[in-house]
Amino acid sequence: MLTPEQLQGFHRDGYLVLPHFKSAPAMATLRARALAIVDAFDPTDGSAVFTTNDQVRSIDRYFLDSANQVRCFFEEEAFAPDGSLKQAKALSINKIGHAMHDLDPVFDDFSHGVALDTVARGVGLAEPRIWQSMYIFKQPGIGGEVGWHQDATFFDTTPTSVTTFWFALEDATLHNGCLWVQPGDHRTPLRERFVRHGDSITMEPLDATPWPDTTSAVALEVQAGTLVVFHGLLPHYSAPNRSASSRHAYTLHATDARCTYASSNWIQRDTTLPVRGFV
Ligand code: FE2
Repeated sequence: MLTPEQLQGFHRDGYLVLPHFKSAPAMATLRARALAIVDAFDPTDGSAVFTTNDQVRSIDRYFLDSANQVRCFFEEEAFAPDGSLKQAKALSINKIGHAMHDLDPVFDDFSHGVALDTVARGVGLAEPRIWQSMYIFKQPGIGGEVGWHQDATFFDTTPTSVTTFWFALEDATLHNGCLWVQPGDHRTPLRERFVRHGDSITMEPLDATPWPDTTSAVALEVQAGTLVVFHGLLPHYSAPNRSASSRHAYTLHATDARCTYASSNWIQRDTTLPVRGFV
């Protein structure tokens, strides 16, 4: 159960930090599974992402098809000019996405349970539905920046309900690219929307409210095991990782089934893989 103070903080700031939410063994199991998925990933097999001239189209297809699959994505800076990997494959992957929570037993186990369901209901998701999972590596040296954005951009519901569950699997610090948030700015409008029509994706501008910057924002330096829960309209950012240590994190995005989920959201589910809650 969330305390009244925690709930008050969530509504005031748009986020909540819950230290020691996941145990060391649970994190070690997830990490080992993620590394096994990367190990089994053959970049030249099927995706053709990095080998064809028709690169943009292939990347789009590969990305779109990952909505309800388990796929690996490279860091932008992973490749040398000649197309070879600058460091080992295991140190070149940006993330795994986007349906491990439903398709992989180890991820399924980590992503579900009464503890998470209680937090979700506590922050207002009466009927939580988990649409997406991402394992984010933030690799040493080349871990890319993720610019200011709101997660509601990618999960439009009426009214807004998407909530992010961000698990630190390693200590997140200013040196390895921790999260930054702008407390209270979950009360600002949605700036843009990621819209899918068939196989085409566009970023639709909605509101010109400027993004915060790191002079006003708060850096969330948190220990491994911490769960950060944040509102879908909360602007957040993470810097590149130029340090020698990785910053693994895992995220889930859930909406409330009482709200209408937009048919233009890039992730859709049907009866072959129904969207589920935390329990
Ligand atoms: Fe985000």
